[in-house]
Amino acid sequence: MTSVSVLSVASEIYPLIKTGGLADVAGALPAALAAEDVAVRSLVPGYPAVLAGLPSGETVHEFADLFGGAARLIAGTAQDLALLVLDAPHLYARPGDPYRGPQGLDWPDNAVRFAALARVAADLGHGLVPSIAPDVIHAHDWQAGLVPAYLQYDGLPRPKTVMTVHNMAFQGQFPAALLAPLGLPAVAFAIDGVEYYGSIGFLKAGLQLADRLTTVSPTYAVEIQSPAAGMGLDGLLRARADRLSGILNGIDVEVWNPGNDPMIAARFGPRRLGERAQNKAALQERYDLAASPEAPLFGVVSRLSWQKGLDLLLAALPVLLAAGAQLAVLGAGEAALENAIAAAAQAHPGRVGAIFEFDEELAHQIQAGADAILVPSRFEPCGLTQLCALRYGAVPVVARAGGLTDTVIDANEMALAAGVATGIQFAPGSAEMLANGIRRAASLFRTVGAWRRMQQMGMATDVSWRRPANRYATLYRELVRPADPASEEAPR
Ligand code: ADP
Ligand code: GLC
Repeated sequence: MTSVSVLSVASEIYPLIKTGGLADVAGALPAALAAEDVAVRSLVPGYPAVLAGLPSGETVHEFADLFGGAARLIAGTAQDLALLVLDAPHLYARPGDPYRGPQGLDWPDNAVRFAALARVAADLGHGLVPSIAPDVIHAHDWQAGLVPAYLQYDGLPRPKTVMTVHNMAFQGQFPAALLAPLGLPAVAFAIDGVEYYGSIGFLKAGLQLADRLTTVSPTYAVEIQSPAAGMGLDGLLRARADRLSGILNGIDVEVWNPGNDPMIAARFGPRRLGERAQNKAALQERYDLAASPEAPLFGVVSRLSWQKGLDLLLAALPVLLAAGAQLAVLGAGEAALENAIAAAAQAHPGRVGAIFEFDEELAHQIQAGADAILVPSRFEPCGLTQLCALRYGAVPVVARAGGLTDTVIDANEMALAAGVATGIQFAPGSAEMLANGIRRAASLFRTVGAWRRMQQMGMATDVSWRRPANRYATLYRELVRPADPASEEAPR
């Protein structure tokens, strides 16, 4: 097996900086790939949280002027991750999350902030730091979308590139006037380059110019070739369908391990499901819900955005309440959704609770204590919370969209009879269908044997990175190795 060296480029990485699943993926994949003899270094922006999390490091390059300020590249290890941190204070030394200031508004110079990341990645591909010579550069989401573009227009020998889409809803579209300031040549502003409906499209550029494209589930790979899910890029994806594949996400089964999770009240396993009762009681207390072991407790751990369909859940709430169930929501994001959920909690004390924070520990406690995890997304590239739910014996009740389709086996008649069901699926995008899913879940919950069987089947599901890492490793190897052995030069 030839070893492969990969430079991963992402705007978030767990546990240093996270707003969603991208960070989980960027943070967990390197260790899983190490087992496949793939060495990964991760290039990330030097946000304050990242610099604070890097105990020591070595400056491997200094830039006198990187898009308007001095910068340096620091190589170091944090939490077992081999990192290259781009310390560029004029771009990243700011409060707020990676994309927005404390007021919740996108930084006006986001195009430059993430172009800088891509520019440095491309430079590394050209040998900026001789000891770092990636065979493949793996770009994640729009923030890294210009990597293949810089490599293309530099016109130098370059490593292979993979572009992974975690979410088509975020495309990084910026004014055409930025072309020269971003260091892109005029020729790049073309339909087969970075041009996107008269603007510059970062994700478009990556999808147009990378050697291989992936997304985070097989179903989403198909969905994004249609107008509804492709969100303007479906035509391009259909044209490049032979380069596109779907590789399901995994989760870090060390971080998410109910058998030794220090964040939960009682640890448990598939044969010690009884202990979950303590976690449920603790959760009910934390959320001021009635201390009822019999009430099916539905949990939600989610960004609050239109994608996640929580407005549909509010519309279906009467059905949830009529089924005698409880609801505990952990979410952060849009204020309008937060207000609507808060109002529902206020209207139904003891039955509905909500906490609006980003709280890693509470996320674990919900997975450990809820009977079921609701994921009513309108679209979902992969979704990780349903994978955590499977691992924690919380039955996932999910919309049949994207990766949710691929990861949960619906408790239909046949699956129940065969004993292979792991959760419940319902058609996405409608409060009625969601309400049906909730009704089915509540009724199955009261069929103790069937419910327990689903929990155990879920816990037996392999949600680790083992298989996905193998698929990424295979993809890298195919890229690095010439496709057709016959085309290789014959030995002299
Ligand atoms: P997305 O990336 O679209 O937000 P995923 O399901 O792929 O959705 O990943 C979400 C990740 O973020 C999961 O690890 C989940 O536990 C975590 N998460 C989401 N919201 C919160 C929150 N409010 N507090 C803590 N963790 C959260
Ligand atoms: C995105 C998607 C989510 C996916 C995550 C990690 O944020 O919304 O479905 O699991 O990326 O790939």
